[in-house]
Amino acid sequence: MTTVQFPEGFRWGVATAAFQIEGSTDADGRTDSIWDELCRRPGAVLNGDTGEVACDHYRRMPDDVRLMTDLGVGTYRFSTSWCRVRPDGGAVNAKGVDFYSRLVDELLEQGIAPWLTLYHWDLPQALEEAGGWANRDTAYRFVEYALTMHDALGDRVPTWTTLNEPWCSALLGYAGAHHAPGRAEPRAAVAAVHHLLLAHGLGAEALRSAGVGSGRGDQLGITLNLSLFSAADPVRPQDEDLLRRLDGLQNRVFLDPVLTGQYPADVRADLAHLGFDDVVQDGDLGSIGTPIDVLGVNYYSTQQVRDGAGEYPSPWVALDTEEAPRVEVVDRGAPRTAMGWDVTPDGLRELLVRLDHDYDRIGYGTSIVITENGAAYDDPEPVDGRVADEDRRAYLEAHLRACHAAIEAGVPLTGYLAWSLMDNFEWAFGYDRRFGIVHVDYDTQVRTPKDSARWYAGVMRDNGF
Ligand code: FCB
Repeated sequence: MTTVQFPEGFRWGVATAAFQIEGSTDADGRTDSIWDELCRRPGAVLNGDTGEVACDHYRRMPDDVRLMTDLGVGTYRFSTSWCRVRPDGGAVNAKGVDFYSRLVDELLEQGIAPWLTLYHWDLPQALEEAGGWANRDTAYRFVEYALTMHDALGDRVPTWTTLNEPWCSALLGYAGAHHAPGRAEPRAAVAAVHHLLLAHGLGAEALRSAGVGSGRGDQLGITLNLSLFSAADPVRPQDEDLLRRLDGLQNRVFLDPVLTGQYPADVRADLAHLGFDDVVQDGDLGSIGTPIDVLGVNYYSTQQVRDGAGEYPSPWVALDTEEAPRVEVVDRGAPRTAMGWDVTPDGLRELLVRLDHDYDRIGYGTSIVITENGAAYDDPEPVDGRVADEDRRAYLEAHLRACHAAIEAGVPLTGYLAWSLMDNFEWAFGYDRRFGIVHVDYDTQVRTPKDSARWYAGVMRDNGF
């Protein structure tokens, strides 16, 4: 008997992303993505790490699928690499497509449901050189790529996610310069927000026309990284406005158009001086509001903030007006992960309840799945085939309790995918931050399931704990 029991049919699994695990960046016709390019820029990625080898998953894929089988994974969320499949964003590369076709076959043979994300940040560098996401044309190129993947895998992949965390692509990539393509251009970032959403909308329409989400339990959606902000006590008027802006740019500017077909008026007004209205064309919001079956939520933490005092190097600040408020992140004394992120499991429950409350479509055609949740910690090295990562296990347990509480409160949460199957390339932090439930020895590529993986395997098996 478990004490926390999830509803029958609840979907359990793990997630990864192409650039973070595959390596083999020159293999079989693949060309550079914006992350290959960023990795070559001195100082852009910690320790000069690159994605050239990563977890060598491109060559070890069948073994990694078996690893998932051993853990009892039900759903595997992975991403496909645009620059393998359509190098330079151009013609289709059969060898690139074939890798994902083999992956899907392996998964199906092992009884694991494939969940495909089309874009997890690795834009072909050639498309960036043509303007990247600041260029409307990139959205049209995305649709071609989406249909290529659907032509090849549509008969075998039930679940399709257009984009992973467009906030990061647009804001960290084009305003904050923390992520590829490493630009600090607020106007480009604002254009990227819209063009990414347009890519989602046009892609969703095209995939729907191709048959995704029209029966057979097929599902179509987008994954957003959502968070909640609170103000330190006492709350001052300028703090309230700061909260509104942070929530607007982190959450509502993506949620509203996808779930209601409208941009939030206050955010539109905030961004008007950066040319936002000029990039939104007639009909765009109709496409962006194409009904989705599943909203993917990636959740890691919440932040308590205060206006004025700090010098938070934030992309939100870069997008603010001349008299930009500065954001100070308040130290609440909460435990932190190795990323420096506060551990705030109840924020996940609160967020899910809010989504259900604020958006009519949630629960009426659109369900929610946690497509990422997890934590980096400075794990001990493996000893006798064990990695004692109690803090990660406790993090997962606390967040699963929050998911369960949200379900009890009526939220249509239908699945949970842990980030990540294995330690991998954590973007600007390179290999220095470990999010895996499976340890990777980067010298030998040996995989060792951590204690958290053993515990999570039990949760997936028992549908609770
Ligand atoms: C998310 C990303 C994922 C991973 C986790 C820690 O923002 O989608 O690739 O880096 O954070």
